[in-house]
Amino acid sequence: MLSPAYFQRMQAPSIFSKISPPTLFLLQEIGKFGEKTAQSVYVVGGFVRDLLIGRENLDIDIVLEGDAVRFADQLAEAWSGKVQVHCTFGTATVIRPDGSKVDFVSARNETYARPGALPSVRYSIIEADLRRRDFSINALAIRLNPDAFGELVDCTDGLRDLRAGHIRVLHDRSFIDDPTRIFRAIRYEGRYRFRIVEGDQQRIREAIAQGVLDLISGQRVRNEIDCILSEVTVPRIIRRMLEFDLFRVVHPEWDISPHFDARWHAAQQAIDWAEQHLPNDQIDTAAILWMTLRSTVCGAIKAVSDRLALENQLREKLIAQAKLCSVLDTLSASSTPSEVYRLLNPYPLEPLVFTLKQPNQPDWRIEKIQDYLIYLRGVQPLITGDDLIQLGLKPSRAFADVLWKVFAAQLDGKVSTKLEACQLLEYKT
Ligand code: CTP
Repeated sequence: MLSPAYFQRMQAPSIFSKISPPTLFLLQEIGKFGEKTAQSVYVVGGFVRDLLIGRENLDIDIVLEGDAVRFADQLAEAWSGKVQVHCTFGTATVIRPDGSKVDFVSARNETYARPGALPSVRYSIIEADLRRRDFSINALAIRLNPDAFGELVDCTDGLRDLRAGHIRVLHDRSFIDDPTRIFRAIRYEGRYRFRIVEGDQQRIREAIAQGVLDLISGQRVRNEIDCILSEVTVPRIIRRMLEFDLFRVVHPEWDISPHFDARWHAAQQAIDWAEQHLPNDQIDTAAILWMTLRSTVCGAIKAVSDRLALENQLREKLIAQAKLCSVLDTLSASSTPSEVYRLLNPYPLEPLVFTLKQPNQPDWRIEKIQDYLIYLRGVQPLITGDDLIQLGLKPSRAFADVLWKVFAAQLDGKVSTKLEACQLLEYKT
């Protein structure tokens, strides 16, 4: 049994007054199902934290003292929804007929065989489940069973820390057991303008000095960076990561530009520009955001990409962006459209879009890149290889050269009809 000393009571409707009626109804239904099956059910983690802060969070994580997979299965049937079971983690996601999702997990204890390893898991009660979590502000739960619907379970002073704006771990080894929490702490600091408490800042430094970040996989670090890049307050988070020298700790050659803020704002503007002017293109905005973090040392891109296990597509875009910087130096105000086309055409869209709004560029360069993106790259050649064959020419290596010359003339406005292009062709061949 849980000791009442561990609980602070906050009763509905005060706690739930900020939840939309459909979500409230959903939570009540889950609670009633808990009662029917004689299990204690709680909504936990980010949902509760953000509810108390007054910030919308649609991720509903349910913890129950019992078999979560079975519970989710039965509830999915009652809702006429679907269930996805994640066997490795003993968790389940119910997808309701309206498409909304709810995650279920059994209350559990976690132990770590060694620092940075994934935890091994044992079923337990809610209090133990909360105590294994990362920070006190994430270790809050609200009971959903009708007997005490809305009761806040706060056994680690999470509410006090939320009010004070403190990020605080729950035990001394937290950053050692799970070094991804270093990134998470800094992310929450930046997101909520909270502060990692002094002792924990010291714990982060000690954990880093012990080399814990070398023990986690590139994929896990990469996931944390992806989460950071999706925050609204990225520059603040990156500044703080730099204070902890985190990039260099992840890889000694990962050197972020001292002008990161300007790069970041320019990348945002470039994404807005692309949404407006290139509506028919699928642009990988995440790749553009990653470009803001590209090492200033071009040669390091491969090494850092290896450490982070970046997929080929992303690393190629980062490399292309680095190469593009020097290619753009060969462009001049008097470059013709065909020269612009020839230089820029080998590059994927993302590095070009990224470059558009970067500071300290001459206006003419921006105009030429925009002209390429909006117009030049969509121009269809008036003459193709098939036309050459129809004209009786034998396919040969020279084809490409001839076709390019005619196409270049077309791009530069020297020919505008097929007839003119054919006339030029006769002259060229
Ligand atoms: N958690 C943890 N340690 C981690 C990751 C997660 O203890 N390394 C716990 C926290 O209690 C967290 C919950 O698992 O609240 C859910 O994790 P996640 O979905 O990543 O975080 P949210 O709290 O939902 O926060 P966010 O708003 O960033 O998604």
